[in-house]
Amino acid sequence: MDSPIGGEEYLFKIVLIGDSAVGKSNLLSRFARNEFDTNSKATIGVEFQTQVVEIEGKEIKAQIWDTAGQERFRAVTSAYYRGALGALVVYDITRKLTFDGIKRWLQELDTQNDSSIVRMLVGNKCDLENIREVSTEDGKSLAETEGMFFMETSALDATNVQTAFEIVIREIY
Ligand code: GTP
Ligand code: MG
Repeated sequence: MDSPIGGEEYLFKIVLIGDSAVGKSNLLSRFARNEFDTNSKATIGVEFQTQVVEIEGKEIKAQIWDTAGQERFRAVTSAYYRGALGALVVYDITRKLTFDGIKRWLQELDTQNDSSIVRMLVGNKCDLENIREVSTEDGKSLAETEGMFFMETSALDATNVQTAFEIVIREIY
């Protein structure tokens, strides 16, 4: 494909969803700024950050949106999902409850977006192997059933964070 030199040619909106405290905001700060916050506060409303990624020689601007997992802190849902091409649906491998909550997030995603959105199931906090409550197999199996990509990540030690976002971005591209 011919394209002009310079400038960002693509802008991809990607949303982060999942229960409170699964690590959405830290996945974003690890990806966009290589930062991690041990004492991060619950997100209120909506925030986003953009990160330029190069894929096959093309500059892609990934605009990653992050919102509150807590219902009472969430902003207007339809605006959050509007125009999104990708979604990272996140649970915490040390809290089974957040894994059980995935179905609800997928339902919301379905009602708010068309099915062509690229979805990845993300089991975060894989650095906490000693207190794991959700096996890798269970994660994989749910992702397969739902036709999603799957990755276990750690925002703390940066495992697979870059990879998870890049897989989604590549697939959109
Ligand atoms: P809401 O904004 O309320 O929806 O939460 P969130 O999903 O954005 O979670 P957040 O990123 O604020 O992280 C919640 C807590 O988990 C914080 O204390 C983080 O330091 C911690 N945390 C996030 N990611 C990881 C991780 O990969 N490993 C470990 N050990 N802790 C993490
Ligand atoms: Mg947050």
